[in-house]
Amino acid sequence: MQRVTTIPRLRTAVAEERGAGHRVVLVPTMGALHAGHFALVEEAHRHGDTVVVSVFVNPAQFDRPDDLQRYPRDLDGDQAALAALGDAAPGILFAPEVSEVYPAEARTTVHVSGLTEGLCGAARPGHFDGVATVVAKLLNMVQPDAALFGRKDFQQLQVIRRLVTDLDLPVSVVAVPTVREDDGVALSSRNRLLSPPERRRAGVLPRALAAAVRTAREAGGDPAALREAVRVTLATEPDVDVEYVEVVDPATLKAPRDGSASPLLVALAAHLGAVRLIDNVVVGDPDDEDRLLAAIGGAAGHHQ
Ligand code: PAJ
Repeated sequence: MQRVTTIPRLRTAVAEERGAGHRVVLVPTMGALHAGHFALVEEAHRHGDTVVVSVFVNPAQFDRPDDLQRYPRDLDGDQAALAALGDAAPGILFAPEVSEVYPAEARTTVHVSGLTEGLCGAARPGHFDGVATVVAKLLNMVQPDAALFGRKDFQQLQVIRRLVTDLDLPVSVVAVPTVREDDGVALSSRNRLLSPPERRRAGVLPRALAAAVRTAREAGGDPAALREAVRVTLATEPDVDVEYVEVVDPATLKAPRDGSASPLLVALAAHLGAVRLIDNVVVGDPDDEDRLLAAIGGAAGHHQ
């Protein structure tokens, strides 16, 4: 694995791979890597020959300076963890400085409208402009054949799909299912910031989403009923401060036009102390539903 920090060196390294006839695949990350990221890296090998992992804590997507400052960073640990993937290790690790990505004179922002105002965009002004801008830049720097993104950040995935289409970027966007812990909690770099009691309480997030899946299976997919099932479950942990629970059309991220539409994205954000966590499930997507229920089921067995 080569570690490169500048755009010219990245371009040279990628050009060498292309010269060897290799398909190049990009996995963008902000580091503090965990099994969710590794699932993306492993899947990436199925879409090309040379995997590029970027590690860049993107200041443009943080709406609060304290959040940016506290975000976990461990580049040497990340590099070692990627190398430990053995055959699945990426060929190139791209870890630029902020000044490399955003020179002082930079003036361009990518804004995706329509998909970015609701859900996480409502409480995090400018967040998705920061995501869209850095992802557009990374796609231009690497010019990969494919790029992989997790369904854990479902709104982000849809924003990226939109910008790739709208800017005619010649890359296929690949979505990867959410990787969960034993109790169903979605892996996240932010989980490192939770105290042990907060981490235990976080288990209510996937349980609340599972309640929506069960409600849909038993009583049909009325969005209001799904939302209520999630809210009722979340309320069993009073120290979990709910930011939003939304049930929307996964394509538009807006309220479904038809009351009993399927599939439905059930998405939530909640604060545990100073840490903000998000999670989602697509009701009506049997694979997504089953993965979530299996993760919760594993937890039930675990605690018996
Ligand atoms: P980061 O939070 O580091 O996530 C990098 C990628 O890993 C994203 O595509 C995210 O959806 C995916 N991911 C995170 N946790 C996951 C999990 N438990 N299961 C499956 N995939 C998971 O998302 C970002 O960084 C940034 O916004 C970025 C796209 C890199 C732009 O800065």
